Amino acid sequence: MKRLLLILSLAFPLFIKAQNYIVNLAEVKAKIQPTMWGLFFEDINRGADGGMYAELVKNRSFDFPDAFMGWKTAPSRQSYGRNEVFQIINNAAVNPNDPKYLQVTVTKPENVLLQNEGFGGVTVKKGLAYQFTLRCREQVAGLKLKVEIVNSKGSVVGSTVQEISRDARNDGAFKLLQSTITPSDTTVNGRLVLRFEGTGKLDIDRISLIPTDTWKGKAQNMRADLVQKLADIKPGFMRFPGGCIVEGDDLTTRYQWKKTIGPLEERKLISNQWKDGGASGRAMPDYFQSYGLGFMEYFQLCEDMKCEPMPILNCGLSCQFGAGEVVAADQMDEYVQDALDLIEFANGDAISTVWGRKRAELGHPAPFHMKLLGIGNENWGPQYVERLELFTKAIKSRYPEIQLITSTGYTPNPQFKYMDSVLRAKHVDIIDEHYYQTPNWFLMNAGKYDNYDRKGPKIFIGEYACHSVRIGNSGNKNTMLCALAEAAWMTGLERNADVVTMAAYAPLFAHVKDWQWTPNLIWFDNVSSYATPSYYVQQMYSLNKGTDVVPITLNGESIAGQDSVWASAVVDRKAGVLIVKLVNPSSVAKVKSIAGLKGGKASLTVLKGRPEEVNSLEMPELVKPVTALMTVKGKELKLDLAPHSFTVLRLNL
Ligand code: AHR
Repeated sequence: MKRLLLILSLAFPLFIKAQNYIVNLAEVKAKIQPTMWGLFFEDINRGADGGMYAELVKNRSFDFPDAFMGWKTAPSRQSYGRNEVFQIINNAAVNPNDPKYLQVTVTKPENVLLQNEGFGGVTVKKGLAYQFTLRCREQVAGLKLKVEIVNSKGSVVGSTVQEISRDARNDGAFKLLQSTITPSDTTVNGRLVLRFEGTGKLDIDRISLIPTDTWKGKAQNMRADLVQKLADIKPGFMRFPGGCIVEGDDLTTRYQWKKTIGPLEERKLISNQWKDGGASGRAMPDYFQSYGLGFMEYFQLCEDMKCEPMPILNCGLSCQFGAGEVVAADQMDEYVQDALDLIEFANGDAISTVWGRKRAELGHPAPFHMKLLGIGNENWGPQYVERLELFTKAIKSRYPEIQLITSTGYTPNPQFKYMDSVLRAKHVDIIDEHYYQTPNWFLMNAGKYDNYDRKGPKIFIGEYACHSVRIGNSGNKNTMLCALAEAAWMTGLERNADVVTMAAYAPLFAHVKDWQWTPNLIWFDNVSSYATPSYYVQQMYSLNKGTDVVPITLNGESIAGQDSVWASAVVDRKAGVLIVKLVNPSSVAKVKSIAGLKGGKASLTVLKGRPEEVNSLEMPELVKPVTALMTVKGKELKLDLAPHSFTVLRLNL
């Protein structure tokens, strides 16, 4: 065999010999889709409300079932005869999407105030301007409103006087009033306080406080540090809005995209499915979806990050772990119509189509060019297949160009097996598989797609993450070992990019105090955030995606764990580079050399750390990749693969 390799490398100069490794630049094994490495966004662990959505006021519209959740009043509503000062008016008959507002009635001057606790405290930065917004209407003139941000000791760090303008007095309609507060000090556990002076009656539908340093100053009001971390991955796609929240606990709490667009008062707040804590049992009774981030914002975010939008829709089944409600097959019209309307909303003409016009009215006349649409999340069984067919028929007859992503459930055995055979027989476009597994599983399964059916549906690894302790256990950590196991598994996805066309780690975000699921890619508190070792693995893959897979072999076989090294190789034809990814999760250093190079510029990016190491808010960069530039002189490059390391080598061709 060795003799044969020697002859081959002499005969074909494009064969590079790396000790026992052969990278064959002449053989393109697969084309890599620009979508290959992407993101999966879900409002879990405070991912949206209290996280990426920069709103600082909890229950800003008094629409939580307990309308005063997050609020305190003076006088206390509990004291006898005082609840007439603060009353919740049920306005559902007028606007079912925004069913409640607060009426403040002050008949004699006294200390009347309303205080919001924010999401685990109102956090503000010294010197930064905050936009205060009040949606209100005046019933009886006379109230003056002083708005303050106070710190945990009760001292005022910023304030404004919000005039009730002539506008809010006139025609009985709610109006938006705005002013700015610039705190003189930073506070992390503050409160927003509204003091009512004088007498009068005011209806308040919404109270909002949003920092002005949101991501790129865009109207979507997203937290800059969090979104920038997503953008820095340069994702190929973003799947949204979930996850389980697509399915809902039952069908009343399923995600309905039409209720998440337009003016905020038209977006219908609902409970967040993760409120009960999921497997971790860390219940968060105050977890609701305000839809401040809705479908329009997600589409725009994808556009801004230059990635493909991948919305997922409910398929007529609620979470099969939960109530498992099923919409009767002959009553699926609304669900299927939602899918058709979504395609028109994303892609339809801004003048001649109803939903394209709607998009234009919302400020985006140009289409979003959506190509991917998911039907269902982690649904399975004959009920799913029956409903999938209804969607497929309706969508493919009108929009054959849309690639449909079909669900296979949540576990390889027995769900994937059953669904796989059924879905393949139906020649579906893309099958969505999810893997939450142990480090060992990821290492052992890095060759899973090496001998896969190349002619059937494409595979989308819609969710995956290595769990350090036990699947679903709340002790799981984003360890370096997990990141290495993911990196090793990803060599297998990359090597098989003709079958696996897209993949995303899951979940994306978690608040360090308010989470239901671990591990997650990015952790944050109200002030800052940090990237996990797994984040850096995702980023190293995405920034080094390449255009073509080329074989990298050891004695003619793919390097999936041989000598405890996992590897893949791609070339980027546009950039003119060979990119080799090498994962050494073992505790032993490996020395390799790659021969047959022409010499020239190269870079070596290495992520390494002890297997148990994690990043944290205190040490956000304990583990992070380091890049060294080098010039390869001559024809050989010796590589020291450190123990517990992931290396990306880029060589000019
Ligand atoms: O990523 C967290 C959850 O895991 C998703 O919501 C769901 O699809 C899966 O079970």
